[in-house]
Amino acid sequence: MMNMTEKLQDRILQLKQKRNAMILAHNYQIPEVQDIADIVGDSLELARAAKSIECDVIVFCGVDFMAETACILNPGKTVLLPSIEACCPMAAMIRADEVRMLRRRFPDAAVVSYVNTTAEVKAESDICCTSSNAIQVVESLDQEQVIFLPDKNLASYVARFSSKEILPWQGYCFVHDRIRPEDVLKARRAHPDAKLLVHPECRPEVIDMADMVSSTSGMIKHVCSAPEEEFIIGTEIGILHGLKKQCPEKICYPLSSQAICTNMKRTDLTKVCESLELLQPRITVPEDVANRARKAIERMLEV
Ligand code: 13P
Ligand code: SF4
Repeated sequence: MMNMTEKLQDRILQLKQKRNAMILAHNYQIPEVQDIADIVGDSLELARAAKSIECDVIVFCGVDFMAETACILNPGKTVLLPSIEACCPMAAMIRADEVRMLRRRFPDAAVVSYVNTTAEVKAESDICCTSSNAIQVVESLDQEQVIFLPDKNLASYVARFSSKEILPWQGYCFVHDRIRPEDVLKARRAHPDAKLLVHPECRPEVIDMADMVSSTSGMIKHVCSAPEEEFIIGTEIGILHGLKKQCPEKICYPLSSQAICTNMKRTDLTKVCESLELLQPRITVPEDVANRARKAIERMLEV
């Protein structure tokens, strides 16, 4: 007798075939969703996959801006976001009219948008970046002044490695921004031999205390290849599933067990199944916005 999870998994596999669909999932998704996905990765890996993937339907298990990016990069495909409420609050912290205002104020500056932005904001930007390529993207620009948005913490991290003048927007990720130095001290006391890896969306004072700063997939690769055995992981706790699967011999502790992105947790197997049944909720981006946003994303992919 199959249990409920097995029944859902079975139905999803049937529907995937029927719809000629592929499931992409971010490293923060719940374990059952990561396990049913064809590709699990960080924002950059998923954007690259969304561009090259061969199928009719992409089921994006992540948040809204990721599904929009998939839609922009692969306009012929049906892109589904199983939970329509799965949004990124940081992406909502800047609007397109605010980017236009910044351009008027700093006419010589380039605009670099983190992928955690709406399609409209990307359409007003010169180039996008993710947490894994932000430094290279900023360094690739001719301009000496760079408007970096929306994440102030990622902006400050990039500024450490760049001679350019970085003008940050004051957005932030509520999950990473609430991790504090006290959490680091507590985790270090509990696990004195562990290396500390943190995401660049963390506060500068937390980054100062880390042994390594990296995107989510960068952390998994590092843990798998590093000689050390124990790691404290300073990002959303969904990543612990991928770490356990890919490097079972390593021991990973969350830096903060409160680091949970409620938006990333809205997707479950029932919603994935329903979205494949109904081909809904479907994400679309108006063509003129998509065409302009695509230039900024493609330019990033070339860096
Ligand atoms: P990554 O690109 O490192 O996966 O990060 C995405 C994100 O939303 C971090 O909060
Ligand atoms: Fe947005 Fe932060 Fe959630 Fe990532 S973890 S999706 S940046 S709110």
